[in-house]
Amino acid sequence: MFAYYTKEDRELLRNVKAVRDYCKQIINDRRANPLKDGETADLLSILLEDEVYHNNDEVIVDECITFFLAGSQTVKATDGNILIHLIMNDDVRAKLMNELKSQVFTSANGEDPLSSLTYEKIQDLSYFSMVFNESLRLEPPVIFSGVMKFTEQQTLEGVNIARTDNIIVNLHQLHHDPDQWIDSERFLPERFDPESKYYLTPSGQRRHPLAFSPFLGGKRICIGKTFAEIVAKLVISGLVSRLEFEFADPKQKFEPKILLNVDQIVQPKIMLKAKAVKI
Ligand code: HEM
Repeated sequence: MFAYYTKEDRELLRNVKAVRDYCKQIINDRRANPLKDGETADLLSILLEDEVYHNNDEVIVDECITFFLAGSQTVKATDGNILIHLIMNDDVRAKLMNELKSQVFTSANGEDPLSSLTYEKIQDLSYFSMVFNESLRLEPPVIFSGVMKFTEQQTLEGVNIARTDNIIVNLHQLHHDPDQWIDSERFLPERFDPESKYYLTPSGQRRHPLAFSPFLGGKRICIGKTFAEIVAKLVISGLVSRLEFEFADPKQKFEPKILLNVDQIVQPKIMLKAKAVKI
């Protein structure tokens, strides 16, 4: 039983109820109008046919809201961060634009440059993948994992961990480990290029396989990781195919970038100006 004392508490409760009711309406609509043969199953239709979920609308709503929040806030932070790193790093922006112009924006004069963007071409944007990874390394949108527990008592690297202990992985710290990353605070997409010296640790070794884990790993690995990369490539390509961005305040370029991730209660504001361009 919850007690809601303040005006904000009551507003929160109203909002939660409004969102849940809206989801329930979608569930009822889908029950009344199931997908037709040949239509691709989406999350909702899978849950409505699942023996554990199909009779429990509250849990279906929980799952849909988890997907929505896990998928929207993370992608928003990632795409915003990439855009800002492109403004702050002229050399990275130039290389990315070269890749896009030579591999994606290949349509004839006058045609929409994006008309030639296909799923296959997205797979080939190797420099873009490095920019995406480096943005996730420097500023993982999810800074900490949720709580994990072992089913049995364990000793890891000499540390005793009881069954009752809560374990949280600090992804941000993992990504800034100076033993794993050369110049760990710099934005250097080449860290993900096997040909680059930045691919190795400062002592010239291969990096630890878990040194970069923005999507966590194992059974808890993010289900939307591939989708998130596709969205970033589509959204950023779409934006830079028509617009050139700069900071509204030119001094911003020389300031350290304000962190943007999903754990911030108050999201930082960085104002950008966009100018229409023909590429
Ligand atoms: C760059 C974007 C994203 C990042 C960095 C990210 C990161 C993560 C991480 C670290 C976890 C593990 C959390 C934990 O177990 O402690 C996770 C779980 C999850 N992610 Fe993502 N994610 C991203 C995009 C997405 C997208 C696009 C979707 C869905 C379309 C999604 C859906 C989920 C779901 C459903 C879970 C499981 C949540 C749970 O266990 O309750 N994520 N994600």
